This record gives sequence, structure tokens and C-alpha cells, in this order.
Amino acid sequence: MSKLHIPFLRTPLLLCVLVLLPLPFKVISQDANTEKTILLNLKQQLGNPPSIQSWNSSSLPCTWTGVTCGDDGSVTELDLGDKGITKTIPPTICDLKNLTFLYMNLNYIPGEFPKVLYSCTKLQHLDLSQNYFVGPIPDDIDKLSGLRYIDLGANNFTGNIPPQIANLKGLRTLFLYQNQFNGTFPKEISKLSNLEELGLAFNNFVPSSIPVEFGQLKKLRLLWMRLANLIGEIPESLTSLSSLETLDLVGNDLEGKIPDGLFSLKNLTSLYLFGNNLSGEIPQRVETLNLVEMDLGMNQLNGSIPEDFGKLKKLQLLSLFENHMSGEVPPSIGLLPALKTFKVFSNNLSGALPPKMGLYSKLEEFDVSTNQFSGQLPENLCAGGVLQGVVAFENNLSGPVPRSLGNCNSLHTIQLFSNNFSGEIPAGVWTASDMIYLMLSDNSFSGGLPSKLAWNLSRLELNNNKLSGPIPPGISSWVNLVVFKASNNLLSGEIPVEITSLPHLSDLLIDGNQFSGQLPSKIISWKSLTSLILSRNALSGQIPKEIGSLPDLRYLDLSQNNFSGEIPLEFDQLKPVFLNLSSNHLSGKIPDQFDNIAYVNSFLNNSNLCAVNPVLNFPNCYAKLRDSKKMPSKTLALILVLTVTIFVVTMIVTLFVVRDYQRKKAKRDLAAWKLTSFQRLNFTEANILASLTENNLIGSGGSGKVYRVAINRAGDYVAVKRIWNNEKMDRNLEKEFSAEVQILGTIRHANIVKLLCCISSESSKLLVYEFMENQSLDRWLHGRKRSQSMGISSFGYMAPGKSTQQLHCAFVNGDEHTSLADWAWQQFGQGTPIADCLDPEIKEPCFLQEMTTVFNLGLICTHPSPSTRPSMKDVLEILRRVSPDSNGETKTGAELDVLPLLGTVTSLSATTQHETA
Ligand SMILES: *[C@@H]1O[C@H](CO)[C@@H](O)[C@H](O)[C@H]1NC(C)=O
Ligand SMILES: *[C@@H]1O[C@H](CO)[C@@H](O)[C@H](O)[C@H]1NC(C)=O
Ligand SMILES: *[C@@H]1O[C@H](CO)[C@@H](O)[C@H](O)[C@H]1NC(C)=O
Ligand SMILES: *[C@@H]1O[C@H](CO)[C@@H](O)[C@H](O)[C@H]1NC(C)=O
Ligand SMILES: *[C@@H]1O[C@H](CO)[C@@H](O)[C@H](O)[C@H]1NC(C)=O
Ligand SMILES: *[C@@H]1O[C@H](CO)[C@@H](O)[C@H](O)[C@H]1NC(C)=O
Ligand SMILES: *[C@@H]1O[C@H](CO)[C@@H](O)[C@H](O)[C@H]1NC(C)=O
Repeated sequence: MSKLHIPFLRTPLLLCVLVLLPLPFKVISQDANTEKTILLNLKQQLGNPPSIQSWNSSSLPCTWTGVTCGDDGSVTELDLGDKGITKTIPPTICDLKNLTFLYMNLNYIPGEFPKVLYSCTKLQHLDLSQNYFVGPIPDDIDKLSGLRYIDLGANNFTGNIPPQIANLKGLRTLFLYQNQFNGTFPKEISKLSNLEELGLAFNNFVPSSIPVEFGQLKKLRLLWMRLANLIGEIPESLTSLSSLETLDLVGNDLEGKIPDGLFSLKNLTSLYLFGNNLSGEIPQRVETLNLVEMDLGMNQLNGSIPEDFGKLKKLQLLSLFENHMSGEVPPSIGLLPALKTFKVFSNNLSGALPPKMGLYSKLEEFDVSTNQFSGQLPENLCAGGVLQGVVAFENNLSGPVPRSLGNCNSLHTIQLFSNNFSGEIPAGVWTASDMIYLMLSDNSFSGGLPSKLAWNLSRLELNNNKLSGPIPPGISSWVNLVVFKASNNLLSGEIPVEITSLPHLSDLLIDGNQFSGQLPSKIISWKSLTSLILSRNALSGQIPKEIGSLPDLRYLDLSQNNFSGEIPLEFDQLKPVFLNLSSNHLSGKIPDQFDNIAYVNSFLNNSNLCAVNPVLNFPNCYAKLRDSKKMPSKTLALILVLTVTIFVVTMIVTLFVVRDYQRKKAKRDLAAWKLTSFQRLNFTEANILASLTENNLIGSGGSGKVYRVAINRAGDYVAVKRIWNNEKMDRNLEKEFSAEVQILGTIRHANIVKLLCCISSESSKLLVYEFMENQSLDRWLHGRKRSQSMGISSFGYMAPGKSTQQLHCAFVNGDEHTSLADWAWQQFGQGTPIADCLDPEIKEPCFLQEMTTVFNLGLICTHPSPSTRPSMKDVLEILRRVSPDSNGETKTGAELDVLPLLGTVTSLSATTQHETA
């Protein structure tokens, strides 16, 4: 037919050329020339992708990339996989009458299923995987009647898989994995009696069970239905799939027993059932002697590990983690000649580990953690020389760490914490060249610390052992260390200055040892240090001032030592989340920044400290100075000078105030106003009072008005909130007000508006805040649609109210005596749906999930028990995840469920943060 379309190709001239040329190969058929034209057209229609530039008239089609011809020179195979194609498939492709194999995978082909291919009557093999196809699989797909192989995986097909697909009787392979199918798959697939491979994995089908009829697929070698929303039991009929080699049902909701017959399938090599809800015991009789990989992890399996597993001579992977398996591991498993990976963590297994494990196979992974194993670690785990990890934490293992592990350079990690190991840690373990994590806490290890460490070791955990001796000066070579924990050992000597040279160190926990002497007065690096926990030692001398300048320090515990002298002034630069200097011999003034209720437990039991804020329960620094009778004359002189200076300054200031006041002829009786300031002010009450005019009014509401007041000519402003105008205040209320204002005034936090001072008279209170240009949270949430109400949710994120005593944020909702946090927890406790708790004015259905996440986050952040609250880092991470990305899209739904996420987050931070509390 195509010959008729393009007759000009058969011009006499071309024929002459062909005849005259002394061609060394057989004469090219006219068909070949036609097919050349077809292919050149095809190239054009596919948008001339550079990847098929070799398709040009200077050569023969059968030599072009991706073109394969049959014996008669006609094109039988087109391999256009990964050619950067972005256009739909043109109908002319079926003008290649003998096209049998078509690979167009790994391109960017858009649109619906290409029905144009129905005209390719000889097509047997069709690979369209990894493209941009959308829409359903058409009902008339059976028009591709010659197909033996079809791969439509990794596209965006949706809907149901039509039963007509079962009319493709010749199909050997049906791959529909990783699409967006949201309907059903037909049981008629079972009629494909030649089917050898069936891949429906990674689709969100409506929950369905595995059709019993699938047992009829006698030639099936691969059944791949990972993450396909399967429910119900594994049908007994699958045990008649006698050709089955791989069964992959990972990550579904399958329950019930594993059918005994599965372990009789002689050709089975790979059995992946992990991440289901399978229960009962694993059959004891095992005839699947060709099994290479078996992963039954994360189910509810119980009973013991079958003795017959010892017969699986080809087994490389044995994984049973997170089940309820009990009993001993059959010693025969230690003799398996092919075993590479042995993972049985988180079960109830007990007894000794197979003593010969590692001796007969090249073991790579060994994880038996969180069981009740006892006895020693097998002696020869690394005999094959390729072992990457020994993970055996949380067992009852005892004895020494086998010396052979000290000669195992392939190791990345040894995790033996929470056992009863004893003896010295073999020297080679510290220095194994690829070691990254060494986690040996909670044992009875003895001996000293090494002066050399594996160059890449980043985490060294040795808490709660019996290690002794000094920290060697060679510690400066531990250059990549991030976490060093050696709390509660018998370590002693001085803390060498070399330890301060570790540039990546973030956690240093060596509390509960016998360190003595002074801390190094020089800190060489410690740029990354966030936790410095040195409590319960015998350290003495001054606290080095450099500690105050560590940029990232958040946890500092120097308690229960013999530190003396004053707390360095530099500590005012710290922003600690946790600070404990109690039970030392410190003296002098508590730095201003910590002189408030948040640090009430940070300085206990230092009898010579003084404070200004009475809440800390220390002698008042100034009262102390005044009362002191035996004051040295130098101090007296200093005090005199200070007093005179303050007097003079006060006089000058007063003079200015009076002058200013007179100039403005203010009528107000200044004497009636009392100013309580919380920091140095560059204005006076007169400045403020004179400016409370209608011009400066920026908001008003039930309880008062808010003004914006310029305090200098440079354009600096403060916000003044005037409350309870013209009403005499109840005395008790007045007291409470003052107490709370006192607390608010002493809080310094980047996210809390600073209360600068309070100016009060009998009938009126003025709260003077830092002015925030960006207005209130309320305004951000509601835009301008709300009137300028100025209730307590407007200026200052903390408004005076009952809850400020507990330092809670007080967005008051309805009942003005409940804080928002309390109210939210109440709703949570009563099981109110979160959607009902959200402010209807800002509730947007499309962001409901994000809002729910943030609500949950708020809950967990205000959890009554502080230790349950996540760290700011984790909070930030969660907020990042829910915040829209640059395209305005949030991350997928699965990531948004914050409560489980917080579970991980808290357990994570529990292991990474200090454990001193
Ligand atoms: C034509 O194809 C040959 C290889 O078959 C290639 O070397 C040549 O660069 C191509 N010519 C053009 C113009 O792309
Ligand atoms: C297709 O192959 C058959 C034989 O296999 C041959 O006779 C025929 O010419 C070929 N068709 C084309 C268009 O080359
Ligand atoms: C296919 O689906 C994914 C996931 O939903 C989406 O990110 C992608 O944009 C879709 N592609 C097309 C071409 O529809
Ligand atoms: C499946 O997805 C399509 C396209 O997204 C949608 O139109 C259809 O309603 C969905 N069907 C089901 C059963 O969810
Ligand atoms: C099992 O595998 C062997 C070797 O690959 C093969 O010869 C045999 O036919 C297979 N058995 C079945 C029932 O498919
Ligand atoms: C697992 O199966 C048990 C019954 O065997 C059922 O009670 C439980 O809810 C299931 N769990 C999940 C997560 O499906
Ligand atoms: C295993 O669990 C099943 C219930 O799923 C129970 O009937 C059986 O007794 C358990 N077996 C053992 C050994 O615990």
C-alpha cells in the first residue's frame, strides 16, 4: 500500500544508480526503500529527536539505531526506548507491516492509550512503560490480538482494568504496575492460560482479595502484587501455581495463615510477604529448596523458626523481623552456605545464637536486636570478610566481643547496647576503616578509650559501662565525630584541650564520671556543639567564658561539680533550651537573661549567687550589697561612684522630662502615673502620655484602645495598649495584673512581642510594646474583612490573662478564662473532630489536611509533659512538610499525618538528644 503513496521513489534515475553501483551486498528490495520513507516520516512525526539522528537517507534503515530487520530486510523491531520522545505515536508506524517488537519505554509520550497501534497486525511485544499516558485502558484492547508481551507500567493510567484484556490469549507477560488504577482488576485474568508474568504492583485498586481463580495460572512464574491494596487471606489455590518462582505480595493488608502448600512449591526462589497482617505459625515442613530470598517481616507470625530452614542451601536472605516468633534459632541456620542477610530483630526469640553463623557463608548483614537472646555473640560472624553490620542491641547477650570483629574492616556499624557484654572492646573495633556508628552503651565494658579512631566514625556511644582512665590527648584525631556519649563510666583525669578541637562534634555527654581539674580555658573549635553535658564530675575552677560564645549550644549541664567564681558575662549570648548550673560553688549575679522564672531550676544550690527577680528565690543582689557590713573599701568606692552617677543621670533625665513636660503644657498629672520598666527605655511616660491622641489610634475594642506612638525623630515607634479606662480596678485584679506584667516583662523571646514597660494610674493601665509593623496574627489570618477589633487574640501575642502564669500563649476562645491550648486539649479529649475545632472564618476545605496537621502539631507542642514535646527542629521540619512548595502544592497526603510522624520524631530525638534528665 505504501508503495502507492510514494511512487516517485521508483524513478528510473534511482534505479540506474542502484544498478550501476557495484554493491557488495544483496540487492535491496523495493520494500526496504518504502520502509525507509516510512521511518523518515516517522522520525519527522516524532519531532526529530536528536537521539535518532542516524536515521537519514545516507544509509540503510536496517543499520539505523533501534531498527532491526528480519531475514528479508523488512523492519521487525523498533527500539525507541529512552529516545527523548515527547510526541504521540503516529498511525504511520503500522505501515511497517512486519513490525513485531515495539519498545517505546522511558520517554515522555503523552495522551491516552495509543489505539493507532491496533493496525500493527503482527505486533507481539509492546513496551510503553515509563511514559506520560493517562486515562483508562480501552475496552477494545483485545484488538491487539497477537500480543504476547505488554508492559504499560509506570504511567498514569486510571480506572478499572477491563476484563477484555483476558481475550489476549497469547499473553505471556502482563505488566500494569505503578499506575493510578483506582478501580478493580478482573478475575478473568486467570483465563490467560499462557501467562508467565503478572505485575499489578503499586496500584491503589479498590480493596480486593486475590481471586481464587488465579490458581489456574499454571504457567505463572511471577506474581507481583506489591502494594496493591489486597485484603483477605492468601487463597489456598495459589499453592497449585507449580511454576511459581517469585511471589511478591509485600505491603498489603493480607491476613490469616500462610498456606502450608506455598512451602511445597519446588521452583519458588523468592517469597516476599512482608508488611502484611499474616498470623499463625510458619509451616514446619519446607520443600521450597530453591528459595534464595525469603522476607516475612512485619507480620503477626508466631511460633518458632522451622528446623527445615536449615535445608535451604540457596538461601541468601532470611528476614523475619517484627513478628512474634519465639524459641531458639535452629543452629543449622548458621551452617547455610549462601546466607548473606539474617534479620530477625524485634521478635521474642531466645537461647543462643547459632554459634557457627558467618563461618560457612559470606555474611553481610546480621540484625538480631530486640529479642531475648543470651550467651555470646557467634565467634566468626566476619569470617567471609564482607560483614557490614553487627546489630544485636536489647538482648541478654554476655561475654566479650569476639576478638575477630576487631579484624573486620568491612564493618560500618556495631550496635550492641543494652546487653551484658563485658571485657575490653577489641582494639581493631575502634579503628575498622569503614566504621561509622559504634553504639555500645548499657553494658559492662571495661578498659580505656583509644587514642585513634576510625577516620569516619561519627557516633560513639559508651554510656553506662565501666570504662576507666583518661580521655587521651589523641582525641584530636577523632575528627569526624558528631556524637560522643560516655556518661556514667569511671573515666577520670582532666578534660584535655584537644577535645575542643573536634569541628563536627554536636553532642558531648560525659556526665557521671570522675573528671577533675579545670575545664580547658581555650576552646579550639566546637562550632557545631549543641549539647555539653558534664554534670556529676569533680570539675572545678571558673567556667570558661568561651562556653558563652558557642553559637549553637542549646543544652548545657554543668551541675554537681565544684565550679566556682562568677557566671561569665558571655553567658548572656546563649540561647539554651536546657541550662543547669546547680550544685556548684558559683557566686555573683545571675546573668540578666536567666533572671526569670524559666530558669528557676537552673541555679539551685549555689549559696553565693544573687538575683534581681524575686521569683528565683535568691538573695536580692542590691539588698545584699546594701546589707553587707564587711564590704571591702574598693567595692564601697565602686558603689559610691555608681550611686553618684545614677543620681546625676536621674537628675539630668528629670530635668529634661520636666522641661519637656512644661513645654508641652500637658495637663496630665504625671505624679499619678507609675512607670514599671523592664529594660532600658529611650522614652519617658510623658512622651507616651502626650501622644495618646485620636490621630495615633490604630485599633480599639471592648477593653481599650491601641495607639502607635513615635518615640523619636528617627521614626521608631512603640505600640501602647490602654486598658480599663475610667473604671477603678478591683484590688485583687490589680495585684494579679502586676504579677503577670512582671513575668511578661522579663521574657525575652524572638517570637514574643517585647513588653517594654507598664505605665499605670488608678483608673487606667498602659502597656507599652515593641511595635510590630506586620500587624496582628488575626489580621494575617482574616485579612481586612474583620473590623479593627482589638480584643485580647491583637497586640502582643501574650495578653494578660489567667494562663500567662503558666507561660502559655493565650489566644482566648469564647470562655476568656481558658487558654487556647487548654481548650484544644479539651476538644481532643472529648473526641471532637478536628475540622469542627477550626475557625470557620479561615477554614478552607482544600487545606483541611494541612490545618489538621498544624492543629495536631499545636497539641503535641503544648503537651502537659514537656519531655513529650518535639524539638523546634522537628517542628520546623513538619511545618516545612505541610507548607506549600514553590508550585503552591503541598506534599502528598501520606506525609501529612503528623501524629505517627511525631512518634518517629520523638523517638528519634530521644535517641539523639542528651539523656540526662
Ligand atoms: C546520518 O547518519 C550517519 C550515521 O548513520 C551519521 O554519521 C550522520 O551524521 C547523519 N547525518 C546527518 C545529517 O545527521
Ligand atoms: C514481511 O515478511 C514476509 C515474510 O516473513 C515477507 O514476505 C514480506 O515481504 C514482509 N513484508 C514487508 C512489508 O517487508
Ligand atoms: C502522573 O501522576 C503523578 C502523580 O500523581 C503526577 O505527579 C504527574 O504529574 C502525572 N503525570 C501526568 C502526565 O499526568
Ligand atoms: C478514578 O480516578 C478518576 C480520575 O482521577 C476519577 O475520575 C474516578 O472518579 C476515580 N474512580 C474511583 C472509583 O475512585
Ligand atoms: C521448575 O524449574 C525447572 C528448571 O528451571 C524447569 O525445568 C521446570 O519445568 C519447572 N517446573 C515447573 C512446574 O514449572
Ligand atoms: C490484623 O488482623 C487482626 C486479626 O487477625 C485484626 O484484629 C487487626 O485489626 C488487623 N490489623 C490491621 C492493622 O489490619
Ligand atoms: C499463634 O497465634 C495463633 C493465633 O493467630 C494462636 O492460635 C496460636 O496458639 C499461636 N501459637 C503460638 C505458638 O503462640
